[in-house]
Amino acid sequence: MTWLKNVLNISVDELYKNWDYHKWCIEAGWMDGPIAYTTNWVSDNFKPGTEVADVACGNGQLGIGFSNRTANSLGYGNNDFVIDGYDINAKMLDTFEATNYRSTSLHDMNNNSLPRKYKCITVIGAFNKSHINSDSAKMFAESLEDDGLLIASVSIVDKEDPLELMGWRTQEHLEIVSEESIKSLITPDEGQKYHIMAVFKKK
Ligand SMILES: C[S@@+](CC[C@H](N)C(=O)[O-])C[C@H]1O[C@@H](n2cnc3c(N)ncnc32)[C@H](O)[C@@H]1O
Repeated sequence: MTWLKNVLNISVDELYKNWDYHKWCIEAGWMDGPIAYTTNWVSDNFKPGTEVADVACGNGQLGIGFSNRTANSLGYGNNDFVIDGYDINAKMLDTFEATNYRSTSLHDMNNNSLPRKYKCITVIGAFNKSHINSDSAKMFAESLEDDGLLIASVSIVDKEDPLELMGWRTQEHLEIVSEESIKSLITPDEGQKYHIMAVFKKK
């Protein structure tokens, strides 16, 4: 089994238990791929001050990405967005590395809408078979403002269309607005992998 398939077969608790995840993000190119793509997208599509729900926030990789933007003088950066982080895994929140979130909360997006609505929701690294599935589309739609947008990364395994495979194209609650395949991470056995960056709005 490939490294990526193995990762997607392990339960969330088991997967992150002994993984120095942020170190891996830097080494595997995740920060320069999906995270940088998302901070650019948020900055291009929302005004400073917009409240962002970072679902499956991990150790705060998105917030760290905004700090990196400031360091690189790319425009909106560190504290221009008000970020609330949500994650199902206490270990990830206990080892949080970002310092620019308004709040972090334990939350299972497969079963619950967010406690309030947002104009912008990010879900990076979690639309896959062991994390967040397309039954959560209802919960995401209930958590988005009517004019809100959600951006998610979706892993490509075996060259099949992951949006089709996971049911994101056929669910009733969210419409796909755009999708783009980008370089996402380098795995030990398969080298360069790609993710689809998909943007959704409420149907
Ligand atoms: C690969 S990490 C991504 C972290 C960060 N967003 C990033 O891009 O680096 C996936 C995260 O999804 C979280 N997660 C998995 N299932 C979830 C669920 N049902 N609801 C909320 N978070 C979930 C995991 O605990 C983990 O922190």
